[in-house]
Amino acid sequence: MKEVARLQSSSLSLGDVKMFPIPENPDRLTALVLRTNTGVYGWLNACPHDGRMLCQDPTYLLKRKTGLIQCMHHQATFDPESGICDDGPCLGEKLREVKIIEKDGQIVVLL
Ligand code: FES
Repeated sequence: MKEVARLQSSSLSLGDVKMFPIPENPDRLTALVLRTNTGVYGWLNACPHDGRMLCQDPTYLLKRKTGLIQCMHHQATFDPESGICDDGPCLGEKLREVKIIEKDGQIVVLL
């Protein structure tokens, strides 16, 4: 696994989402890192429906009312903690996980 990003834990508040480029990938994929009540989660910014980016701007990844991840293309929604699609064209499929380690005040993003 390679380190994609490292950030201070204090820079990711509850409900925040940050996006990081993944080095050396010709598809120019990005990683999404977010904090919920239960911890920090990382997901590849790619929808299982047809591989398009879930979002271009991480500010708009989570639906305000429900806190679910919502794909900007066909509005599939995903649980931000399990990554499982609960509504939309990829129902039951799962986002690809990006490994997160939070330790000693730092968040390390690995892929
Ligand atoms: S590409 Fe995400 S729902 Fe279609």
